Amino acid sequence: MQVSLLNIRKDFPILSRTVRGGKPLIYLDNAATTQKPNHVVDTISDYYRNYNANTHRAIYALAEEATEKYESVRDRVAKFLNIQERSHIIFVRGTTEGINLVAYAWGRPNITKGDVIVTTEYEHHSNIVPWQLLCKEKGATLKYIPIDEQGRLMLDILDGYIAEENVKMVTFSLMSNVLGTITNAHAIMSKCRKVQIPTLIDAAQAVPHMRVDVSSLGCDFFTFSGHKMMGPTGIGVLYATQRMLDKMSPFHGGGDMIREVHKQESTWNDLPHKFEAGTPNIADVIGLGAAVDYLERIGMDNIRAHEMELTSYALNRMRQIPGITIYGPTDIKERGGVISFNFADVHPHDVAHIVDEEGIAIRSGHHCAQVLMEELDVAATSRASFYVYNTKEEVDALIDALQKVARVFKLE
Ligand code: ALA
Repeated sequence: MQVSLLNIRKDFPILSRTVRGGKPLIYLDNAATTQKPNHVVDTISDYYRNYNANTHRAIYALAEEATEKYESVRDRVAKFLNIQERSHIIFVRGTTEGINLVAYAWGRPNITKGDVIVTTEYEHHSNIVPWQLLCKEKGATLKYIPIDEQGRLMLDILDGYIAEENVKMVTFSLMSNVLGTITNAHAIMSKCRKVQIPTLIDAAQAVPHMRVDVSSLGCDFFTFSGHKMMGPTGIGVLYATQRMLDKMSPFHGGGDMIREVHKQESTWNDLPHKFEAGTPNIADVIGLGAAVDYLERIGMDNIRAHEMELTSYALNRMRQIPGITIYGPTDIKERGGVISFNFADVHPHDVAHIVDEEGIAIRSGHHCAQVLMEELDVAATSRASFYVYNTKEEVDALIDALQKVARVFKLE
């Protein structure tokens, strides 16, 4: 671990606990959710203990304080991701809600019969199912950019789709939650920009792990979740450009999203409140702000550098174990800290179970990416995923546990 990162683990009390009869916890399921530093937990607790009040409604001191703290997170998120317009940042429950919001509030008024929506074969279900629902309702078609043998997108296929002229949306994840592939977003964006095709980036796996500049990407929609970046569950962000917001109907109706309500009709509040109906998730927005502050203190480039080093180390060690198949790009610059693998014909649940006996948390299953599983021709994989607080010693423990799998299943 780099010197500047040495002290991070003490900020996460959970990383010192033991499981399974006294084994130190080794948490390698960071693509599913990440652990929370004291700073985030304390910030949330401070809201509930000291200034709990509803936002945007009342004029008393406590409410002003809660509103000011809540709204300041919009500014911090904008700065963190280089987004110019704070009112284009909408707080949602997470990436899944962000994509559903777009599929409803933009998709319903703007997609018609015969239109094409393009996604990719390595998407999470949350960037497939909302579009399937939309396509079914409107008579539109969902097409997929395929992957090559290293799990990278075959972008020339996108050229073919675009040439057919009825593509109305291109949506893709910035990093695959299974393969770890980092998408060549600038290449996709340049193809789409030339013909003004709207774009959505699912950045759930990318924002926590690398520096992301939304302005330079130039996408129309961008969404991510707080809980994968040391923040609380139940909070995320959707960013949208003005040209898209102008064409969007409300998503949820209710308090705060209206200007006036009459018996038969209503008018809408200014952005972003038009899309934030009801009492917002105040505590967790404030907690997300604390996570952003914490990540900025570590430095996103330090996080990426640490994860590249750790992932290279893990890949090299895993490749030496006979019978292990690793999915995704071989070049570390093209992948994040996610390693999906299979071990001979041992079921991934059995691998995860034996590894868990050693106190090591990895994921097994289809990872909400069954379209990708079909392409890989597997039912499931095991998956280890790293964050900035993981160490080489933890990777060594994973390797030892995998060697135990080999012994148990007599693979040696
Ligand atoms: N999307 C999360 C994962 O990949 C839940 O595990």
